[in-house]
Amino acid sequence: MSSYSQIYDAIGGAEVIRDVVARFYPKVQEHPLLAPLFPEDINPVMEKQYLFLTQFLGGPSLYSDEYGHPMMRARHLPFEITPERAEAWLSCMAAALAETEIPVPFQKLVIERLSGPANHFVNSDRS
Ligand code: HEM
Repeated sequence: MSSYSQIYDAIGGAEVIRDVVARFYPKVQEHPLLAPLFPEDINPVMEKQYLFLTQFLGGPSLYSDEYGHPMMRARHLPFEITPERAEAWLSCMAAALAETEIPVPFQKLVIERLSGPANHFVNSDRS
């Protein structure tokens, strides 16, 4: 259960990742700390997140194939990301995962894997 590709397959692959992304962004758009950061048309962001999460969890390298090296921290630098916003992002993701059929231990594993990057993207301590 330690390898990334096992996570991708274990949670159900492409279809399930699409579902998680579709459940995640409405929560982000409703969250008072996160909503102001995102554009009104969320569809392009959803598509990129689908491509990225696919490869992040061990599926095909869809994001890099299209956009090159992810450099995710750099891509987040234009946005003020506080520790509270990182927590909020992870809690929206946990809530999205909880609505799926993904077994709870895998939900926890996905959140664990995303916590590192989320905290790493913090670039401001202003709340
Ligand atoms: C820590 C809290 C986070 C906040 C507040 C945040 C916020 C944002 C914002 C505002 C955008 C740009 C939306 C736009 O295109 O206008 C974005 C893009 C993106 N975020 Fe995050 N994000 C966070 C964490 C993460 C994490 C943990 C991941 C995955 C590991 C992630 C993956 C992405 C991806 C793939 C994009 C699209 C990048 C691109 O433009 O190619 N984000 N995020």
